[in-house]
Amino acid sequence: MKPFLNWAGGKRWLVSNHAAILHAPCDRFVEPFLGSGAVYFHLEPKKALLSDANPRLIETFGAVRDEPGEVLELLKLHQRRHDSGYYYRVREQSLRKNATRAAQFIYLNRTCFNGLYRVNLDGRFNVPKGSKDAVLLPDDDFLAWSELLRGAQLRAGDFAESIEETGPGDLLYVDPPYTVKHNMNNFVKYNERIFSWADQVRLRDSLVAATKRGVRVILSNADHPSIRDLYPASDWAKITLGRHSRLAASSDHRKPTTELVISNCLSARSKHRDPRVCT
Ligand SMILES: C[S@@+](CC[C@H](N)C(=O)[O-])C[C@H]1O[C@@H](n2cnc3c(N)ncnc32)[C@H](O)[C@@H]1O
Repeated sequence: MKPFLNWAGGKRWLVSNHAAILHAPCDRFVEPFLGSGAVYFHLEPKKALLSDANPRLIETFGAVRDEPGEVLELLKLHQRRHDSGYYYRVREQSLRKNATRAAQFIYLNRTCFNGLYRVNLDGRFNVPKGSKDAVLLPDDDFLAWSELLRGAQLRAGDFAESIEETGPGDLLYVDPPYTVKHNMNNFVKYNERIFSWADQVRLRDSLVAATKRGVRVILSNADHPSIRDLYPASDWAKITLGRHSRLAASSDHRKPTTELVISNCLSARSKHRDPRVCT
C-alpha cells in the first residue's frame, strides 16, 4: 500500500528498492518517526504503534482511520475549487472538526511546494503553493488506509515515549530527521534545529535499552562517520544503500548519495537477515 502523504525524508525509495531488509516476523510494528509512514504502509502489519512529534500529522492519520469517507468528500471539494488563490485561503483557515482539518492537511501536502511541511513561529503552515495540482490521485484508497489503520494505536509525542514501551515481539523501525552534514544534504541546517546531535545520542541510548529488552530494531540514518561511531560494529550491523536524492533544490545536488540502515537483527556481510539472530 502506498502512503497518502508526501514527506521530507520519506522512505518510498527504500521500500521500492530494498524491501527485503524490512521484513521481519513481529507481533507488533512500532514506528516512532512516522512521517508519511511509507514503511508501515508497505509492511501492512495487523498491529502497530505509530507516533510522531507533529500533532497535526497524527490527527490526520486519526481522521483517515476514523472518518475516511468524510475526508475523501472534502478532498473532492478541494479538487474542484483548487487554484492559487484558493490554496492560500485554505492555508490561512483555522478549522475545528477532525475530518475538515485532515482534508486541509492532505490538500496542502499534495499541492504545496515539494510536499514540505514547515510552520512559522506561531505554528502556522507557511509553505508556498507548488506546481502539482492533483488533489486526488488515481490510486488513492481511503477505505483501505482506514482499514489498515484500525489496527494502529496513534500518538503525538517524542520518540522516547514510544520506544520505552517496546518489548519482545516488537519490530521497531526508526527514521529520525538526519542531523549531521551528510553528502550534499541542504536540509541539514533546518534539521539541526528540529533534531539536534543531542537527540541523536538520546535516540541511540533508547535503542540500546530496547535491544536489551529483546526488541528488533531497524534504523535509517545518514551515511556519515559520526553516525557509524554512534552505533559500534560490535553491536550493530550496517548496510550502505545507494539512492538518488529527490529533495535537493539544484540539479547539482541530485547526485547519487548513500544512506545507512543500522540494525540489531541483520547480517551486514550477507546483506540479508541473519536467521541465527532473527528467527
Ligand atoms: C525523516 S521523517 C520520517 C519519514 C518517514 N519514515 C516516511 O517514510 O515518511 C522524520 C519524522 O520525525 C519527526 N520528528 C522530529 N523530531 C521528533 C521527535 N523528537 N520525536 C518523534 N518524532 C520526531 C518529524 O515530524 C518527521 O515526521
